[in-house]
Amino acid sequence: MRFDVFTIFPEYLAALELSLIGKARGQGLLEVAVHDLRDFTTDRHRTVDDSPYGGGAGMVMKPEPWAQALESVLDPHADAKPTLIVPSPAGEVFTQALAHEFAARQHLVFACGRYEGIDERVLDWAADHYTVRPVSLGDYVLNGGEVAVLAMVEAIGRLVPGVVGNPESLVEESHADGLLEYPVYTKPAAWRDREVPEVLLSGNHGKIAKFRREQQLRRTVARRPDLIAALDAGSLGKADRNVLWELGYAVVDRQLVKREAAT
Ligand code: ADE
Repeated sequence: MRFDVFTIFPEYLAALELSLIGKARGQGLLEVAVHDLRDFTTDRHRTVDDSPYGGGAGMVMKPEPWAQALESVLDPHADAKPTLIVPSPAGEVFTQALAHEFAARQHLVFACGRYEGIDERVLDWAADHYTVRPVSLGDYVLNGGEVAVLAMVEAIGRLVPGVVGNPESLVEESHADGLLEYPVYTKPAAWRDREVPEVLLSGNHGKIAKFRREQQLRRTVARRPDLIAALDAGSLGKADRNVLWELGYAVVDRQLVKREAAT
């Protein structure tokens, strides 16, 4: 799988040389190329921005360097259009489901905007050559797309087969099944007057699985009730429904609703 990243701060992406993603690059599982957008300018000052038409604060990224940059990584022999991910607080929200969708692609290109953003015509033009996806990391504003790209390349790259050594760790983690992960513990069994839940020391795998599932449900209800509302209750087992009933939820038309609201 290939990633191309365009930015005016290539050093920002140096972290992609570290840890699992860096190792996967070394093994040839992932190809990551970081490009300086200013290399695609033609003027002496290597200008990438200009003032906005219509007025307003800040500067806008000029279209010409972006078109040159995005053309430079197009492969005329590719079977499918590459995907152009444009990090932006005005994009669709990045989720684990989106990470899986992108991990199935051959070629991802990231366009890191700075200032007030990229001239909108670049995205219109790029749609002839790319599948264009403006994507937000969340409902807050960063100074540019670089931090978002670090997060997305890591989340996507680790789903590529072979990148994470033990594929089982991808099955049990948060968001894998629409719920948050259960809490984890290691030795010592007692630490500063706090004990590891006894069931985890029991060796009874059935009981441990039941305990962990209940913890997942409890934690998700407490921290992310929006994820509970998004579950397909029809696919939950009786034990899950019982725990959720205890936590104040009822099933109405395959959806989980707060019991007060249901009556
Ligand atoms: N650039 C600025 N803010 C951003 C956000 N929340 N997500 C992605 N890219 C951004």
